[in-house]
Amino acid sequence: MSHHIIQAFSLQGSDPIFTDSINCTADCSPLSFLLYARDHTPHFSTLVHSIMQWVWEYGMLGEMTREDAALAADMALLHDAGKHLLPASILEKADRLTPEEFHIVQKHPIWGEALLSCSLRERRDTSAFTYAIEICLHHHERWDGAGYPDGLKGMEIPMYVQVVSLSDVYDALVAQRSYRPPMGHRSAANLILSGGCGAFSPVLRSILAKRAQQIEALIYKEAPHE
Ligand SMILES: [Fe+2]
Repeated sequence: MSHHIIQAFSLQGSDPIFTDSINCTADCSPLSFLLYARDHTPHFSTLVHSIMQWVWEYGMLGEMTREDAALAADMALLHDAGKHLLPASILEKADRLTPEEFHIVQKHPIWGEALLSCSLRERRDTSAFTYAIEICLHHHERWDGAGYPDGLKGMEIPMYVQVVSLSDVYDALVAQRSYRPPMGHRSAANLILSGGCGAFSPVLRSILAKRAQQIEALIYKEAPHE
């Protein structure tokens, strides 16, 4: 859905940004950040849009309109923009990360917020900007406060961000990794529901439990059954 991001920010292709605050001479355009959704399946965006829609129908997105919800879902593709600044030795490592390496990875939400704030600064007054920044900074927060970087808890984490977090985890589990095969859909849902990927809100857990088969059947059409 990168064309939605292009539309949302009126981007005209690559627009490299050089900042004083971040010593980054690489291409720091929002389009380049889309690369960092590469750890996901091609269905990630559809998954986010579907869950966002279901949560909206439950009336759990507050004042957000259906269009706002769709826009927030579009911005989910920028969630890992901060990985742009991770060293290749970590990004491309075939084995599991060491605790030290994981500590570095945990900085990517803050780095991502800084990168997006800078590269999208001329669209600072838009809803797309707000959604992109919030998703980028807080997509690793968890319902019980055990996430990072801010340890936000419960509804301190905007619900649309929680949707991206759940989708991020689910899609990552069913995606291929260099160090493990893709997990089956039933196993992925069970792992999340049992708390194996951190705590999620009761509403999201309920949606995942009720819609697990639908997610597999409708969204991951090409995925093999367990
Ligand atoms: Fe992330």
